[in-house]
Amino acid sequence: MSRNVLIIDDEVDMAVALEESIKRIGFRPTVFHNPAEVLARTNPADYALIITDMIMPKMTGIEFLQEVRKRGIFVPVIVVTGFGTVQNAVDAMKLGATDYIMKPFSFEMLQATIERIMPPDEPDMIAESAVMKSILALSREVAKSDITVLLTGESGTGKEIIARTIHRYSPRADKPFVAVNCAAISENLLESELFGHEKGAFTGALERRIGKFELANNGTLLLDEVSEMAPALQAKLLRAIQEREIDRVGGKAPIPLDVRIISTTNRDLLSEVKQGRFREDLYYRLNVFPIVLPPLRERREDIEPLAVFFLARLSRKMGRAFSLSPALCEELRKQAWEGNVRELENYIYRTAVISPTDLLQPPTQTAGAAVPVQEDTVSSPSMLGTIRDMEREMIIRVLKETDGNRTRTAEKLGVSVRTIRNKIKEYGISDDEDPEK
Ligand SMILES: Nc1ncnc2c1ncn2[C@@H]1O[C@H](COP(=O)(O)OP(=O)(O)OP(=O)(O)O)[C@@H](O)[C@H]1O
Ligand SMILES: [Mg+2]
Repeated sequence: MSRNVLIIDDEVDMAVALEESIKRIGFRPTVFHNPAEVLARTNPADYALIITDMIMPKMTGIEFLQEVRKRGIFVPVIVVTGFGTVQNAVDAMKLGATDYIMKPFSFEMLQATIERIMPPDEPDMIAESAVMKSILALSREVAKSDITVLLTGESGTGKEIIARTIHRYSPRADKPFVAVNCAAISENLLESELFGHEKGAFTGALERRIGKFELANNGTLLLDEVSEMAPALQAKLLRAIQEREIDRVGGKAPIPLDVRIISTTNRDLLSEVKQGRFREDLYYRLNVFPIVLPPLRERREDIEPLAVFFLARLSRKMGRAFSLSPALCEELRKQAWEGNVRELENYIYRTAVISPTDLLQPPTQTAGAAVPVQEDTVSSPSMLGTIRDMEREMIIRVLKETDGNRTRTAEKLGVSVRTIRNKIKEYGISDDEDPEK
């Protein structure tokens, strides 16, 4: 999200006070002294928040607000109103102001109003283990330049979150971050997804389409699972990176672009090169700065802080106050987490959602069972039935979605392939429900 805040106030002292406050809260202020100038010289849509005074000589805050909304811009607007003008504030709210603040106001009042509209950024990621701490530090460092980064790691280790972190700490942070999953779509579709196409470029190209490369211009493009790209497209990608320009499918002239590239893979890309599946020249273009994310089982210190982090996030969402019991912590430490952070995240959410209390116990021990119980036992028999039904349904659904691919089903559900195999057996999911057979 952009951190730019637009301030409009004809009184210079007031504008300066607002500007200083906004900086202190951690946003980037831009000040104008009259609304007409704003409309002429900048685009209100480029800001995360607008704070405008009400009474100004050429155009009032209300008129400005109406103009902004008329242009289809729905950036939150806080109106600053003077002494005894409650009616103005009410009118402003009716006309689409997000909130108002009355003069005189304290810094704390302004801060509270802003945080109501735009909650402060949550801590974005956990890095407790030494290895993750150094990866995070490295990410912030490489963020400063435009260097091309290749993120390698097993599924669910946090490649995308690191890519986003690099973007967020880069000078491109206010520009787009665009992700393309190179594994998800067919070769033809991927080309037009990446580079766009002109109207009529092929059957079905009814309109011009802007590709992800162009959308990412001046920002960052994440090529997710880049190893899965077909050879012909690898050549086109290489050209785009080398020449810093792209060709829309069916386009007449190349389009120059400035895009920072980050790619991810959960394969060993060099061995893909050796086996002739990935272009060597492209490999060296992408692998300028490699970052390898270790699997969760090799950085066990991260497990508990991650669990606490996911619970805090879920608590906020659900208005609860979840916490981990020592027994659950113990359980988390024991598991293999082959699906890495994603598996842990899903495990925590599943456990929280079925927990009768805010203090989370291992699923096998809810309802206060004092003795270790069998693997499959969950709180009460009726609940157990429901959960098993749910689980069975979910597995069948995802198997269908993935055309019976057990590896991808396991990934989507955040469990190991072995677990999926066992569950298929255990639930007696039959041949026609499991298309892989
Ligand atoms: N260090 C971390 N702190 C907080 N959340 C994390 C961390 N690492 C991963 N996550 C969360 O775990 C999930 C998986 O992470 P992410 O999508 O970045 O993994 P990935 O390596 O891109 O996986 P895949 O290869 O399957 O695409 C996401 O929900 C992400 O937010
Ligand atoms: Mg990913």
